[in-house]
Amino acid sequence: MGLVTEPRAMTEPRASASGRENFPVLDQRVHGKPLVYLDNAATTQKPQMVLDAMNQFYQVDNSNIHRGVHELSERSTRHYEEARVKIQRFINAADWREIIFVRGATEGINLVAYTYGRRHVQAGDEIVISAMEHHSNIVPWQILCEEKQAILRIAPINQRGELLLDEFEKLLGPRTKLVSVVHVSNALGTINPVAEIARMAHRHGAPVFIDGAQAVAHMKVDVQALDCDFYALSGHKMFGPTGIGVLYGKAALLNKMPPYQGGGDMISSVTFAKTTYNDLPYKFEAGTPNIAGTIGLGAAVDYINEIGLDRIQAYEHELLAYGTAQLERIPGLRLIGTAREKASVLSFVLEGVHPHDVGTILDREGVAVRTGHHCAQPVLEWFGVPATTRASLAFYNTRQDIDALVAGIYKVKEIFGCGAGSQPARDSQSRQEVSS
Ligand code: ALA
Repeated sequence: MGLVTEPRAMTEPRASASGRENFPVLDQRVHGKPLVYLDNAATTQKPQMVLDAMNQFYQVDNSNIHRGVHELSERSTRHYEEARVKIQRFINAADWREIIFVRGATEGINLVAYTYGRRHVQAGDEIVISAMEHHSNIVPWQILCEEKQAILRIAPINQRGELLLDEFEKLLGPRTKLVSVVHVSNALGTINPVAEIARMAHRHGAPVFIDGAQAVAHMKVDVQALDCDFYALSGHKMFGPTGIGVLYGKAALLNKMPPYQGGGDMISSVTFAKTTYNDLPYKFEAGTPNIAGTIGLGAAVDYINEIGLDRIQAYEHELLAYGTAQLERIPGLRLIGTAREKASVLSFVLEGVHPHDVGTILDREGVAVRTGHHCAQPVLEWFGVPATTRASLAFYNTRQDIDALVAGIYKVKEIFGCGAGSQPARDSQSRQEVSS
């Protein structure tokens, strides 16, 4: 049982809205075994409430937004804009106009690279990122730097996978035009001190972009308290649908940026001689958006709020500690990413077995994990491994899920005949619930 069904140390949640049983996809067998879903950093599962909100839209309200005078269009527009306000409150943005709907965090980063970056970065300027970035927070800046003959500077990390803040600050200077770092690393789980990073960058006059794709489902994010200039998130990593995400930006910066894409809704007026652009946020929302996805994301925010991010964070922290302790006991297993501040990710290599083989055998046991470089090749290369097996947690995971993972790893060892074989008998504590 997980957080939501074993809340003894916590306030009783409304079981109808927050229980594991609200995730239909979790209730199935894979290869004859009960599904153990530990691939939440790749995408989270969707509660019935999110599925219902999207179905309701298509079954009852479906219409385009901002364009019709008829009832359906007005309803669609209202639900779409309500979702924007939900997101605004969720990340505590100062104004709803600072919430731009995009396809996901990747598009949010590209939007800023192509607009803010193109306008402000010149030859010889510098953009600073960290060594633990996802490809989506590397490649857009590489493209920009190549085009502008600017320089991409990489802040180093230590053996635990923690950013070296002193070294990071040494990279900042008058040529720094932007700092862009990940809030929680998808490959390592490291939680970066993003408020401190923002303070440092601002001392050097550089705005800060935070890639929050792996953070928002696991901890409270307050963009005003962080004082970041941009923040991006992906709906599908926070129990919402795929194809929808958010770029937050401070209005003062967004107002000065040129549009990203041209099309419907982003204009104020068009003539063949000259086009003027719409106000925020519409200036950055060209074309018919993902209306159903946005409404689904709004429902996901309601769902998370109902459980409470404080409770989610506390629960996952304990589950991660339990998982870490269990994996550390396995001979031949090396955890990749052991930061002191860490969330939801257990990335590892197993001596003598390729991660893809680990993942395939785990799958036969019903355990879903991701294997490979996790779209973060440079950081894995830094750790000297081409790939890892990654188990990533959400609040609906349980100690039993971790135990199934551990049992699966022993099965891998048995099949490959590697290391000191069989699983030690579990102590009584390992059978207790995290939240008990
Ligand atoms: N970025 C996603 C992951 O870490 C896809 O798996």
